[in-house]
Amino acid sequence: MCGIVGYIGKRQASPILLDGLRRLEYRGYDSAGMALMGAGDEFQIVKRAGRIENLRQAVNEISPRGDAGISHTRWATHGAPTDANAHPHCDDSGKLALVHNGVIENYQSLRDQLIAQGETFASETDTEVLSHLVGRYFEKSTEPDGEQRLVHAVKTAISKVKGTYGIAVMHKEVPGVIVGARLGSPLVVGLGEGEHFLASDVSALVAHTRDVVYLNDYDIVTIHPDSYSVQSHEGQPAEVKVSRVDFTESDAEKGDFEHFMLKEIFEQPISLQNALRGRLSRDECTAILGGLNMTQQELRQVDRIILSGCGTAFHAAMVGEYLIESMARIPTEVEIASEFRYRNVPTGKNTLQFVLSQSGETIDTLAALREAKRKGIRCLGVVNNVASTIARESDGGVYIHAGPEIGVAATKTFTSQVAVITLLGLLFGRIHHLSSVDGLEMIDELEAIPDKISAILHQTERIREIAEKHAHADGMLFMGRQLNYPVALEGALKMKEISYIYASGHPSAELKHGVIALVKPELPSVFIAPDDAVFDKNVSNIEEVRARKGPVIAVTTEGRTELERITDDVIYIPDCPTYLQPLLTVIPLQLLSYYTAVARGCDVDKPRNLAKSVTVE
Ligand code: AGP
Repeated sequence: MCGIVGYIGKRQASPILLDGLRRLEYRGYDSAGMALMGAGDEFQIVKRAGRIENLRQAVNEISPRGDAGISHTRWATHGAPTDANAHPHCDDSGKLALVHNGVIENYQSLRDQLIAQGETFASETDTEVLSHLVGRYFEKSTEPDGEQRLVHAVKTAISKVKGTYGIAVMHKEVPGVIVGARLGSPLVVGLGEGEHFLASDVSALVAHTRDVVYLNDYDIVTIHPDSYSVQSHEGQPAEVKVSRVDFTESDAEKGDFEHFMLKEIFEQPISLQNALRGRLSRDECTAILGGLNMTQQELRQVDRIILSGCGTAFHAAMVGEYLIESMARIPTEVEIASEFRYRNVPTGKNTLQFVLSQSGETIDTLAALREAKRKGIRCLGVVNNVASTIARESDGGVYIHAGPEIGVAATKTFTSQVAVITLLGLLFGRIHHLSSVDGLEMIDELEAIPDKISAILHQTERIREIAEKHAHADGMLFMGRQLNYPVALEGALKMKEISYIYASGHPSAELKHGVIALVKPELPSVFIAPDDAVFDKNVSNIEEVRARKGPVIAVTTEGRTELERITDDVIYIPDCPTYLQPLLTVIPLQLLSYYTAVARGCDVDKPRNLAKSVTVE
C-alpha cells in the first residue's frame, strides 16, 4: 500500500507534505513525490526513487513553492521503484497531477486504449492510466466551472476503472481546489482553520488537526482553503460525520526510542491496560463488550465461531481458537483470510465470524469479511484503527485501543488482539460453563498481566546479548506447543520480517517429523517451554536438539531452572495461567527479533519489501 498527503490553505505546502509523508512512510517507502500549485502560475512536480529523505533533499535544492499540494510515498506494485514510476503522475498536458493508493486491475486494457488514442506514457505504473483518463475527460468536459470540470472528469475516469483507489488530483487550470476519491483504499479529510488536508491515515494529520472526516467508498471530496464538500458518485451530497482522532502527535512519534518497534514493544503494559479498560465486570464476573451489537440471547445461540486474519493477526486468531474452545466449549476454527475468502465454508445461522486486523484495511481480510457477509454470517471486527474500512463494514466488533502502531512489525497490537480474544473467551465462557469464581479468577489474572510484561521488559539487556550471539545464524527454528504454537509462528514471523534470517515456527512435536533434519550448530532453536502440562514434552524435544548440537534458547517460567542445564540461554517469564501465557511468552521473541535486526544493521521500522498494511492483492 502507499501513503497520500494533500494540503490546501494559507501556508507553504511542501514542508507540511514532507512531514506528513514521513509519518506515513511505514505504508511504503520505495519512492516519493509531490506536486505543488500556488498563486499565479506555480505548478511543479518533484519526485525521487528511494526514501522520503531523497525527496526532501530534492525539495530543499529546488525550493518549489505553492500553498496547495499533493504528495505520495510508494510501495511498488506495477513498475520498479524509479523516479519515473514515482507519483504524482500527469496527463499529456502536464497540467494535471494525480497520486494513487491501490491497484487498477484493468490498467493494461485502459493503457492500450489510451495509447491508441495518442496518449504518451512516461511510466510503467497502473496509476498513470488514471491521470491520462482524468486529463482527457477534463479536456472534453463542457462543464462551465473549472472545479465542476475536474470533479466530472474524476468521476468519469474512476467509473472506467476496476480495482481499488484512494486518489488526490490537482489541475493547473483549477487553482485552489484538490479533488479526492476512494474505493477500497482509505482516505480521510483533515479539517483546519483556513486550511484542509487529505491523507491515507490520520497519523499524517494529527500534527495539524484532530478533527477528521473518514470518507466512504465511492465518495468524492473537493477541498479548498476554507471549505470542503463530499458527494457520492451519483452527485448527491454524501453523509459527513466529523470524528475526533483519539491520539495525539506525540503518540505517533518515537520519543526517546531508537525505533518505533522498540517503543511499541515497551508500550505493551499500557496498551494492554487500554485493551482491558472498562471491559472487566467484577459484579458479573465477565467481560463487557458493548460493540458486539448482539443480545445475550444471540450470544448464547452462537454454536460455531470462525476467526480470520493475516500475518500476526492470524497468529492472534490461532491463539483465540485454543482459548475460546477451552473456555466456552464452542467449536472454533481459524483460517488465513486470503484462504477463507476462496473456501466454500459450510456455515449455519448461528455461526459467528471475527476478522482480526490492526490496520482495518488489509485487502484479504476485508475480502473475508465481505465473503462472510455475502453468506449471511454475522461478522465482527477486532481492529485497531478506528473507522477503518473493516471497522465500518463489520456488523460490530471490538477496538483493541493499542494506539498508532508505526513499526511495520506488529508487536503491541498482537498482545492487544490476544487480550481482546481472551475477553471474548471469558464472555462466551461465562454464558456457558464458567462459574462466577472462574470469571473472577480470570479477571484477577488478566489485570496482573501488564506488570508481568513490565517484569520481562526489565530483561531487555540480557535478551539483547542473546540476540547478538545468534545474529549471524543460518536460520532459526521456533518451537511451541498448544497456545504457544501460534506464538512460535509469531516469533518466526518477527525474526524473518525484520532481520531477514529465514525462520520457521512449528509445534514442538513436529521436530521428529522432518524439522529436526535442519538442526545444526549454526541454526539455533527457540523453545517456548513455560511451566505447563506439556513442559516435560518440550524438555524431551530440547534434548533431541541438543543431542544434535543445535543451540537452544528457551523461554520458560521463573523457577524452572533445570532448563539451564540443557540449553544455551534461558529467558524467564513470570508465572501465569496457561491460557494467558501467549501474552508473556511473545515478549522475549519480539525483543529477540528486534535486537537481532539491529545487530544485523537492518532497517527495523521499514524492512525491505514490506509495508505496514497490505491493501493490494
Ligand atoms: C506483522 O508483523 C506484519 N506486519 C504483517 O504480517 C501484518 O500482521 C499483516 O499484514 C496483517 O495486518 P493487519 O493486522 O493490519 O490486517
